[in-house]
This record gives sequence, C-alpha cells and structure tokens, in this order.
Amino acid sequence: MFSAVGPPVTVRVPAKINLHLAVGDLRPDGYHDLVTVFQALSLTDEVTVTAAVPGAIEPGVSVGAADGVDVSEVPADTTNLAWRAVEALGRRVDRAPDVRVGLRKAIPVAGGMAGGSADAAGALLATAGLWRLDLGRDALMEVAAEVGSDVAFALHGGTALGTGRGERLVPVLSRHTFHWVVAVADHGLSTPTVFGELDRLRARPEAPRRVGDVEPVLEALASGEARSLALLLGNDLQAAAVSLDPGLRRTLRAGVDAGALAGVVSGSGPTCVFLCDGHDAAVRVAAELAGAGVCRTVRVAHGPVPGARVVDGHGGS
Ligand code: C5P
Repeated sequence: MFSAVGPPVTVRVPAKINLHLAVGDLRPDGYHDLVTVFQALSLTDEVTVTAAVPGAIEPGVSVGAADGVDVSEVPADTTNLAWRAVEALGRRVDRAPDVRVGLRKAIPVAGGMAGGSADAAGALLATAGLWRLDLGRDALMEVAAEVGSDVAFALHGGTALGTGRGERLVPVLSRHTFHWVVAVADHGLSTPTVFGELDRLRARPEAPRRVGDVEPVLEALASGEARSLALLLGNDLQAAAVSLDPGLRRTLRAGVDAGALAGVVSGSGPTCVFLCDGHDAAVRVAAELAGAGVCRTVRVAHGPVPGARVVDGHGGS
C-alpha cells in the first residue's frame, strides 16, 4: 500500500555517559536492575529516514562516519538496532517499514556510550516524523524501551535517573554545564560480556566493591560543582571492563595525570570519560591525553544536552 509521505527527516541524537552506575544482581530474564544517572553529551549521531520508493523493496540501513569514527563493525542491514526500532514502530501503528535509514556516526562504536541505542532513538523519532504519526511522547518512550535499555534515555536526553533496566527515567536537576574529555579506545567491548564478567567477579571471594548511594551524586549535580561531582563518579561495570581490558587502567590514570578532576569508564566501556574544571581545562587535558598513546582518539564534549530532536524535515505533530 502506498501512502503519501513527506521529505526525508533528519534527527540528531546524543551519546550518553553514566555518572553513577549501580548494578544489581542478575535477574531471571538475563538483565540486571540498575540505579544509574545518565547524562547526554554533545557527541551526536545523525539519523535520516527517507521514504522507500513505492514498489522497490529495498529496506535497510546505510552507515557513514563523521569525525573518523570506525564504522566497520556497524551492521548496514536490517540487524541494525535502528532498523529494529523502525520495525517496532511499524508494529505499533500497524504499518510496513517502508523506509530507508541513513546513519552518520560520530559516537564511538561499541564504546559504552549507547551509540546503537542513540541511532535507534533517532530512527524512531525520524520515522514518526516521516509518517506524521500523532503518537505522543509516552508511546514513543514505550516503543523505545522495548527496543533496548538505553534507547529511552537517548530520546529523553539531559540528565536523568534511570532504574529498572535503565529504561525507567526521571529527570534530574542539573542546571550547569559539565566539561568532559572522551577517550575512545581502538576496539569495542560487548555489553553482555561486560555484565557477565561482573557476575563472574562478584561470585569470587574478593568481589569488587559496589558504588555508593546515588543521593550525593544528585546533590552534586544540583549544586553544579564539578569538583564535588568528580569525587562521586562511580561505575560498577568499571571493574569488569578493566578485568577484560587491563589497559584501561593506564587510560584512566593518564587522564588524571593530564589534569582531569576524575575519570570513569563510560557504561560497559571501553570509552573512558574525564570530568574537567571548565572548557579550557578540557581542551588542555584532551591535548595531553592525545599525546599519551593510551587511546585511539580524544574528544572534548559537554553535557547535559537535549535528547533526540529533529534538525531537518517534519517534527511530528
Ligand atoms: O537492552 P540492551 O539490548 O541494550 O542490553 C544488551 C545486553 O546488556 C543485555 O542482553 C544484557 O546482557 C545486558 N544488560 C543487563 N542489564 C541491563 C541492561 C543490559 O544485563 N540493565
């Protein structure tokens, strides 16, 4: 069936980091309950959704890179999470996924910054715009949560407290801008493998220490004090990521040696992020870290930034 659609819709969508990531025990469904504080960073992918030519069945995904990101591992076919998001939306509104999705990636791939989830969120919002759906934010968030644990946050953006699998979100007051240096590794880590490694480490007598309560993190965010926040950054997955990739210890040390206030593995890694005392400090830390030979590439970013938003085309009603 052919239905009229408008011109392509392009959505910009941010990477996330976890300022606090407390991981609970393994659940029967294979997931872990989380208490996490997400922040969206100014490192963004662009997702363009175009109506497929009627009759010419060529659905799928094409992938391009911005900023020298290595996209060789990103599937350019219907196994891509962005495509699964389009299919999930199609099921929701009983419509065939008659679109093509184009990705322009600047978020590190398999880096613990939810790049795949960001693309899925972008594809959802762009397809909803292209199809001129009147779905509402809550329904879109529901489809997002079905597609992956981090997809809802990529739509939400800003700073948020996540619980459940990470898909249940409450906005967190964070009026100030924080400045970050992002150290991108030359390889990825698989999220399920890192969660599995944490379960393995926790089964041993010398289990890694768990991160503390989230409340002080929320207070530091409300105060806007980078120095207070720096003392509280914590990630239960860090021990697992470092266990799988011991070189991350050197990366974390190098960022602090370069003048960052603190560093932490982002999500399941291997990307490390460093909180800095302002933009100029971040630029200095980035330059020094780039010369330290501990990562593939270095970026300066700030957060919080908004979640997925339409930058070109129809923004829905
Ligand atoms: O939800 P998503 O597909 O992004 O999760 C990828 C994998 O990460 C899951 O299959 C699971 O192994 C792990 N995971 C987890 N607990 C979470 C989120 C993800 O164990 N809360």
